[in-house]
Amino acid sequence: MPRVLCLNGPNLDMLGRREPGVYGSLSLAELDDRVRRWGADLGLDVVCHQTNDEADLIEAIHEAGDYDGILLNPGAFTHTSFALRDAAAAVDTPVVEVHLSNVRQRDRWRRRSVLTGIAAATIFGRGAEGYRAALRHLVNRAACPLETHRYGPHPDQVFDHRPAPGRPGAVLIHGGFWLDAWGRDTTESWAVDLHGRNVPTANLEYRRLGSGGGAVPTVADIAEGVAAASSVLSDAAPVLIGHSAGAHLALVAASRPDARVGGLVLVAGVYDPDAPGLDETGAAAGRQFDPAGTTRLDRLSLPDCPVLVICGADDRVVPPSQSEAAAAALGSTSELVVCPGEGHFDALDPTSTIWRRAVEWVEHLG
Ligand code: DQA
Repeated sequence: MPRVLCLNGPNLDMLGRREPGVYGSLSLAELDDRVRRWGADLGLDVVCHQTNDEADLIEAIHEAGDYDGILLNPGAFTHTSFALRDAAAAVDTPVVEVHLSNVRQRDRWRRRSVLTGIAAATIFGRGAEGYRAALRHLVNRAACPLETHRYGPHPDQVFDHRPAPGRPGAVLIHGGFWLDAWGRDTTESWAVDLHGRNVPTANLEYRRLGSGGGAVPTVADIAEGVAAASSVLSDAAPVLIGHSAGAHLALVAASRPDARVGGLVLVAGVYDPDAPGLDETGAAAGRQFDPAGTTRLDRLSLPDCPVLVICGADDRVVPPSQSEAAAAALGSTSELVVCPGEGHFDALDPTSTIWRRAVEWVEHLG
């Protein structure tokens, strides 16, 4: 069984008592318990260690050679300790940086991380769930090789390419209500599943709200990212597969006159922040993302490539009515599938009906 070391740095022993409005009410012991359980569910043996001592943290990393991965929340050393950066760079074991809080949206000094460029991934702002995402990233990372390509100077202007011999390739566009706390780790299990089916993928990152995003820059990133990904995937026009806000962005990208898109899969898409039943965070973020409404369905010149619009009947985050409206606007080029018994995040699990239907559709397109 692969082994993972979960390292928590200074002041994280105070969890539960320390600024609960920022870090949550879970104690460190409860967090460790959860992390071990989540690890076991993923087939990982997780060993947890916390220290307030920089030297101890560095030595724990040096000695982690026998581990298959490290989850590291360095606390405030994140922002200051170049010695910690050197330690992480000195070992071959992949290090995933995790923060409970959204370090990009707090004090200015918290935005800098010494692990930038060293960490295999950085997950922040999702509370304890971020540790689960980090474990999943380690599993997915080990499952198939990937190469990260850059399509612009911003750290979020990247995509992970997983080569495979099939065609067309797929560009994956993650969701998370356009907010920076959600990243491409959420669509990584799709990439691994598609790799197993010989479909090459580019799992796209892009600027989001909180890190330079907004309708204009984000839409530009998606267009540039898709173009850059197309040139490494295969000679066929790629399929864009988006989840939630990523489905919206995929549709906007495919609607551009210069788009070269072979097909679109819109999974649990969110297109209208004012429609009834939408999660409140999503509605607020949607309005902030595009206050002028330039990316709403009725403002786009919708594409004429084949489109699968798919969602779960039990989606309580983005109601199925959003997918129904998109399919109606797209007309005869689209097929609408509403899967009974599945919710918003089920779709991200490759064993879900939503994902199996989506993959069958993509395979038929080829
Ligand atoms: C932290 C964020 C750091 O800025 C802070 O110093 C911590 C915890 C987090 O988990 O959000 O101690 O790493």
